[in-house]
Amino acid sequence: MYIAKHGDRYIGYSHFRELNNQQLQQGITAVIKEYWNQGVATALKARILKFGKDHGYQIIEGSHRNNNIPMRTVNEQKLGFVPNSSEIRFEKII
Ligand SMILES: CC(C)(COP(=O)(O)OP(=O)(O)OC[C@H]1O[C@@H](n2cnc3c(N)ncnc32)[C@H](O)[C@@H]1OP(=O)(O)O)[C@@H](O)C(=O)NCCC(=O)NCCS
Repeated sequence: MYIAKHGDRYIGYSHFRELNNQQLQQGITAVIKEYWNQGVATALKARILKFGKDHGYQIIEGSHRNNNIPMRTVNEQKLGFVPNSSEIRFEKII
C-alpha cells in the first residue's frame, strides 16, 4: 500500500497485492474529499505502476464502477488502463 501525506496528515492511500510473479492486483484507492481533483490518486497509482515495472511484473489489474467518473478518469484517461472484461451487478426490488 502507498499512503499520501500532506504535512503530518494522511490524506489518501492505494492498496495493491501480488497475484502471481507476473501480475499485481490493484485494490481500493481513496482520498480525503477536500483533497480531491488535485492528482493525489493519480500519483499514488502511478507509484504502484512504477513499483510493478521496477520489480519485473508485466500486468496490473483492477476494477472500478462504470459510474465512478473520477476513478474511471484516473484509470482510463490518465494512467492508460484498458478494459479486459466486465461484470454487471444486478438488483431486484422485492
Ligand atoms: C476516486 C478518488 C480516489 C479519486 O481521487 P483524486 O485524488 O481526486 O483523483 P485525481 O485528482 O488524481 O484524478 C481525478 C480526475 O477525475 C476528474 N474528475 C473528477 N470528477 C469528474 C467529473 N464529474 N467529470 C469528469 N471528470 C472528473 C478530475 O478532473 C481529475 O482529472 P484531471 O486531473 O485530468 O483534471 C476519490 O474521488 C475518492 O476517494 N473517491 C471515494 C472512494 C472511491 O470511490 N474509490 C475508488 C474505488 S475503486
